[in-house]
Order: sequence, then C-alpha cells, then structure tokens
Amino acid sequence: MIKLHNKIFEPYISAEEIQKSIAKMASKMYDLKNDFPHFIVVLNGSFFFAADLFKQLDFDAEISFIKLQSYEGTNSTGKVNELIGLQANITNRMVVVLEDIVDTGITLEKIYSILESKKPKQIQIATLLFKPSAFQKNLDIHYIGKEITNEFVVGYGLDYKELGRTLPQIYKLKNNS
Ligand code: IMP
Repeated sequence: MIKLHNKIFEPYISAEEIQKSIAKMASKMYDLKNDFPHFIVVLNGSFFFAADLFKQLDFDAEISFIKLQSYEGTNSTGKVNELIGLQANITNRMVVVLEDIVDTGITLEKIYSILESKKPKQIQIATLLFKPSAFQKNLDIHYIGKEITNEFVVGYGLDYKELGRTLPQIYKLKNNS
C-alpha cells in the first residue's frame, strides 16, 4: 500500500503484466510495418508506455509528441486543453496514437479532431488501459493493453496530482480513501 498526498493506493497491475500486454500489442502492430507509421504520444502519462512499446516494435517508425490535459486530481474536467501542439506533418501518413488510459473518451475525441484536420491516411488508437464503463463516446480504439474497472489508477507514468509517476507498477485508489 502507498500514500500519495492524502489518498491510499493498493497494488493493481504488476510490472510483468504491463510488459506482457505491451509485447502482445507490439506484435499485433507488426501489420503496420510497410506503412512506416507515425506514432503520436499523448503526454504526460504515456511516456513509459511509449518507450516500452517502441523497444518492442520490430520495424521502423517515426514518433512525435502532443500534450493534452483534461484531469484535475482524480476527476475529468470535461474540457481538454492542448498544451503542446503537433509539429509533425502527418498528411497521408498512417498515424498511431499512444494513450496511457482512455476513460470518458473526451480526450480521445479531441485527438481525433486535431488529427483528422491534418488529413492523415489513417488514424489508429492504442491505449495501455481502457475503462469501458466510463467511456461515453462512439470512437474506435484499435489496440487495448488491458480493460480495467472504473477506478482511479497511478504508476507507470500515470499520476495523482503529479505523484506516483515513477512507480514501475500500477496501483488503484483504495475504496473510501
Ligand atoms: P478521458 O478524457 O476522460 O478519456 O481521460 C483521459 C486522460 O485523463 C488520460 O490520458 C489521463 O491523463 C487522465 N486519466 C484518466 N483516468 C485516469 C486515471 O485513472 N489515473 C490517472 N490519470 C487518468
């Protein structure tokens, strides 16, 4: 058990399980090898996931980063701010978005609208974690590392008010904490 600010978190997904689901995802992505895909990492939370996934890809790929923010503490604000915009030219490119977690889908909707305006060949979405019962949108997600229940999680790049990012495994908020 760990304490971050005023909240208690308990172990949820081990480092080994995270790596196994990333390896599975990377092998599914092998179908993209002839496309020289352009990966877009959604900062901040996705940087561990992106780094580990990239090490498992058996083909060349480009990478760039955008920074979006929708969460304050343990809740979605319903609004998404673009803090760092996309610099790369993705017109006619196969684009794969790397998200740490898809929750309500509000961020994903914003990502689709930003990227579609740049006329890529195709957009695919890969998320390490997905909360199906919180998802409110009708948007395609092409690769899912693991589905989880509607709980707040930290670790492996994900934070609670900037704490918990450095943890190598994923923890979930303990009930009533
Ligand atoms: P959405 O817009 O509600 O789908 O939320 C997506 C973003 O909110 C993610 O990219 C995370 O940055 C953040 N987020 C959602 N759920 C969690 C969580 O359980 N822990 C930490 N961050 C989260």
